[in-house]
Amino acid sequence: MSRSHTPRRAARAPQSKICVIGAGYVGIPTAGVLASRGHDVVLAERDDYRFEELEKGNLPIVEPGLQELIDEGRIAERIHFVRSAVEGVQDCDFVFLCVPTPQGDDGAADLSYVKEASLEIGPHLAPGCVVINKSTVPVGTADLVARAIGRTDISVVSNPEFLREGTAVADSLHPDRIVVGSNDAHAASAVAELFAGMGGAMVLTDPTTAETIKYASNAFLATKISFVNAMAALCEAVGADIKDLVLGLGFDKRIGFEFLSPGPGWGGSCFPKDTAALVHIGKEHGYEFSLLQGAIDCNVEQIERVTAKIATMAGDLKGATIGVWGVTFKAETDDRRSSPAIAIVRKLVDAGARVRVYDPTLSERDRDAEDLAGVEITSDPFEAARDAKVVALLTEWQMFRWLDHAQVSEVMEVPAIVDARNLLDPDSMKRHGFRYMGIGRS
Ligand code: UDX
Repeated sequence: MSRSHTPRRAARAPQSKICVIGAGYVGIPTAGVLASRGHDVVLAERDDYRFEELEKGNLPIVEPGLQELIDEGRIAERIHFVRSAVEGVQDCDFVFLCVPTPQGDDGAADLSYVKEASLEIGPHLAPGCVVINKSTVPVGTADLVARAIGRTDISVVSNPEFLREGTAVADSLHPDRIVVGSNDAHAASAVAELFAGMGGAMVLTDPTTAETIKYASNAFLATKISFVNAMAALCEAVGADIKDLVLGLGFDKRIGFEFLSPGPGWGGSCFPKDTAALVHIGKEHGYEFSLLQGAIDCNVEQIERVTAKIATMAGDLKGATIGVWGVTFKAETDDRRSSPAIAIVRKLVDAGARVRVYDPTLSERDRDAEDLAGVEITSDPFEAARDAKVVALLTEWQMFRWLDHAQVSEVMEVPAIVDARNLLDPDSMKRHGFRYMGIGRS
């Protein structure tokens, strides 16, 4: 089955009872969107902290607009929270698996949460229930889930999620496309109906292709960023300017501007693990994905390159105070998983620097965080810059653009900045007395 079409603005699907398993960056927006479409949603989360926060009316993650979406669902009594997936799936028409698939030691996705959840819920699913996999999973996982559930009256559908952290609500409410992969046409159309009329194209396909589409999307975007980071390095070598170069590229409609911002490397919960997993999938099936491996290597180099810029600015990292602005993997999220900023901070600490960080999402809870061990957490960007030899801007929080940079220069030991997101205006920084290093421009 391989069809693709843009759905007509369909009448809203009849109300269904839906369980979403896993209250994370995918599960909570999924639950919110389904509730906003009139469905009765149970969100199952077994982690005590996450569950208790949800029960108190809070969110366990930072995501713009999500609190409002969940509050609406709660006020309309369309969202409820339970600890146990077994309890959550009772009498449900649909169950969404939104559990983590972290990277295993060999680069492959660790499917233990997916498997565990499937085994657990199998005997408790209502006859005819459709189980939908939203977690990013290797080819063949729909079969693995079906086997773990072990019932012929249950269909498994792959429906990968493409939302970005920071814009998860808008991405979920207005998807570019909805991919539904199943060998059961009836189940596929029931799932497609849940999302009908949302405006995105509907791609109906088999589960293997649906699973591969998710990896292909993330691998393509990561490769695009690695390409621009490599071009930035070349710009530095030949004396070209990456900002103008991207303008010259992006106006070509075949290329576009999206995902062409150079930075300290790509990170987050998806790109690093999904690119590694796709290389691994290729190897397992006899294909050496050297293009993607190149993009991964380039990303490792980018983290080294930014660290080297900071070292060059500082002269010697040993004993130097380095102010770091931003530690999340990108702005508008509190997520530090596989954050290039954290990788750089760790390298600075290892080199003997005294690192003072500021990030608007850090709180008291982070004082004991392992990834920030040996680092001083400050409560504002001026404090982070105090007595520093260099400030490294690593996450593109807009607030850093609008700071009083003259005041920043006064509190530093010497005004020097490595702007790893090209967020600041080099001329203005130089006017304030800063030595300035961006990415791919002077
Ligand atoms: C990504 C995919 O975009 C999303 O479709 C998928 O469902 C999950 O993975 P996310 O991890 O939230 O989403 O972040 P994204 O906005 O894609 O950024 C990923 C990384 O690339 C970040 O570290 C970001 O800073 C970096 N990036 C992004 C750049 O360095 N330059 C860019 O131009 C864009």
